[in-house]
Amino acid sequence: MTKSIKIAPSILASDFSRLAEVLEELNQSGADMVHVDVMDGHFVPNITLGPPIIKKIRKYSTIPFDVHLMIAPVERYIKDFSDAGADIITIHPEATDNLIQSVQLIKSLGKKAGVSLNPKTNIEALLPALPFIDLILIMSVQPGFGGQAFMPEVLTKVKELRKKIDKEQLNIDIEIDGGINFETAALAKKAGVDILVSGTTLFDSKQSLKDNIEKLRNC
Ligand code: DX5
Ligand code: ZN
Repeated sequence: MTKSIKIAPSILASDFSRLAEVLEELNQSGADMVHVDVMDGHFVPNITLGPPIIKKIRKYSTIPFDVHLMIAPVERYIKDFSDAGADIITIHPEATDNLIQSVQLIKSLGKKAGVSLNPKTNIEALLPALPFIDLILIMSVQPGFGGQAFMPEVLTKVKELRKKIDKEQLNIDIEIDGGINFETAALAKKAGVDILVSGTTLFDSKQSLKDNIEKLRNC
């Protein structure tokens, strides 16, 4: 069964002074969702944006908001991100005292739930949550910053999860995040990912967003 790959541009690499226009451009560019990186300067060594900004910009987008929470303790803020307009909410196991409860909170708010694995975090960390989640986000860089180099060793986890999901016929997408360019995207696809997150490569202004998205989808 071959599904077409989905593209989730990370607005972290875009011009934050014109987010509304960026989102309007993304609506027309063939992107499947908008990847929004939320960082708190505590769980990761960088700070980005929170629910008030997401709420303000959400109305400019006609495609889902894929919100990647790199904040701790995450459970305290899940409802705020849901109310702000997140469609998918992804959390890290290390950022919560109770992964299952946090995932169930996301689901109870009517949102899709994702769990993200850092490069050094093993698959075992998410297994208890597997029956409840819609998405697994494999980090292919250390979370915190865009523009880092892809870590090919995480593809072992992708391959293992692909096998498990197919064998058990689970309705879970595998997303990969960090260092995705036209070369590494091909490796990730081959390993079995469903969704590619990409920031630096897609927002490279030498080519249009639309052309870059198409190129990434077809590489
Ligand atoms: C890193 C973020 C990524 C980042 C990807 O912590 O989770 O989503 O924006 O950016 P690139 O594609 O530049 O690696
Ligand atoms: Zn991300």
